[in-house]
Amino acid sequence: TVGNSTNIFWQESPIGRLERQKLLNQKGCVVWITGLSGSGKSTLAFSVNKELYSRGKLSYILDGDNLRHGLNKNLGFSAEDRTENIRRVGEVAKLFADAGLICIASLISPYRKDRDACRAMLPDSNFIEVFMNMPLELCEARDPKGLYKLARAGKIKGLLSIFSFCYYEKLIPRTCKKKISATTRNKY
Ligand code: PPS
Repeated sequence: TVGNSTNIFWQESPIGRLERQKLLNQKGCVVWITGLSGSGKSTLAFSVNKELYSRGKLSYILDGDNLRHGLNKNLGFSAEDRTENIRRVGEVAKLFADAGLICIASLISPYRKDRDACRAMLPDSNFIEVFMNMPLELCEARDPKGLYKLARAGKIKGLLSIFSFCYYEKLIPRTCKKKISATTRNKY
């Protein structure tokens, strides 16, 4: 049984991942960029994309904001919707990597369990997680889309509410020991 359906079978194509890798002369993988809104995820994604292009490597960006115009247009910013958002993008990223592309996913993706679920879809070395370690104060000072301003004015929800201590703890990779000061924590 797959999901709620029975009688669904996996079809294996005679041209597989290895053949595509050989054709493209590269190994498909996922570079997953996570971090606060305004932390520079898209900027990094664009420059990695450009650099790879100049080196003759094919990469493709899956940007959270952009995907919410189509594939994820029915999702909001509740915890459940974010989880579903990340699950869908994880599945798409897996397909892109399988197609042989270097897939650069750029999403806030605040919950470690969701990112871990995406990582679990791919062999370990094929999923590279990058955390934009940018303090909230700087993201808010940059505020490239004016979202923090709107959130402070109470006009949008779900932007500031996720910036709890807990949220940061989940974002900071296991190897990073950085602690958030009590002042920062209490402020948000
Ligand atoms: S998530 O948390 O991973 O599901 O979010 P993501 O798909 O990356 O989408 C984040 C972009 O949506 C815009 N936006 C908001 N983000 C957070 N909270 C609220 N309420 C919100 N409303 C709109 C925003 O432009 C995010 O893009 P980035 O590039 O992160 O600023």
